[in-house]
Amino acid sequence: MKKIVEVLADREALTQRLLEVVQSKIQAAIIKQGICTIALAGGSTPKALYEAIATCDLPWEKIHVFWGDERYVPPDCPDSNQLMARQAWLDRVTIPAANIHPMPTGGIDPATDAVTYETELQEFFKVSAVKFPNFDIILLGIGDDAHTASLFPGTEALQVSDRLVTVGNKDGQPRITFTIPLINHAHCVIFIVAGASKKPALAQIFAPTGDAIAYPARFIQPNGELWWLLDTAAGEDLQPQTA
Ligand code: 6PG
Repeated sequence: MKKIVEVLADREALTQRLLEVVQSKIQAAIIKQGICTIALAGGSTPKALYEAIATCDLPWEKIHVFWGDERYVPPDCPDSNQLMARQAWLDRVTIPAANIHPMPTGGIDPATDAVTYETELQEFFKVSAVKFPNFDIILLGIGDDAHTASLFPGTEALQVSDRLVTVGNKDGQPRITFTIPLINHAHCVIFIVAGASKKPALAQIFAPTGDAIAYPARFIQPNGELWWLLDTAAGEDLQPQTA
C-alpha cells in the first residue's frame, strides 16, 4: 500500500486538489482499460467536489458511478446519498443513465437489497462469488466517530469478510454499505476530510496502534493507493506524507 497524506489550506484548496487527483485517476483508468469505475462517498463533505467534477470535460460514457454506501431511504429523500450526487454532479453532465449504479433501497428489506447490489457488482465486474472486484477509485469520508462508508463502530458489518456488500447499522437505522475487503481491493481509496470536528477521530485513526472496531476507518488499508486529503481544520496535527 502506498499512503499519501496532504493537508490543504482550506476547503476551496481541498476541493481543487481533490479535483486534480480524481480527474487524474479517472483519466489513467480510461487509458489503461477503457473505462473508469468510481464509488462515491455520501454525507456532505464531498458535495463541493461533485459540483467541481460536473464542470469538467470528461468522457462521461466511459465512467461508471457506484456508491460505497447509502442510507436506507427512497432516492428522492433529502438524506439520500444518491440524490446529493445526482443534484451536485450527475444531473449536470451527459453521463448515460446505464453508467449510474445506485444502491437499491426499495426492496423487501436491507439484506435483500445488499445482495441485489452485490450481484450487480459481480455481473458488472464479471467476478465469481468468491472474488473481490477492483474499483479504480473509492471515495470515502469519516464521521466524528471514525466510521467510514456505513461501517460504524462495534457493528456486525465490521466482521463481514466474505461479501462485497452488507447491511450497516447507524444507531439502529439500516444502511447499505461496501464491506471492508471490497474497499481494500480498490486500486485507489481517497478519504475526503474537512472540519475541526474530525480531529479526534483522525488522531485515533492515525495512531500507530488502536482498536479498529472502535475506529473503523483504521480497517481501510487498500492493496493500492490510500490517499488522505484534508483541510487544515481537520488535518493540522497530521504529518503530511507525499506520493
Ligand atoms: C454517509 C457517508 C458517511 C460520511 C461520513 C462523513 O452516508 O453519511 O457515507 O460515511 O462519509 O459520515 O459525513 P460528512 O461528510 O457529512 O461529515
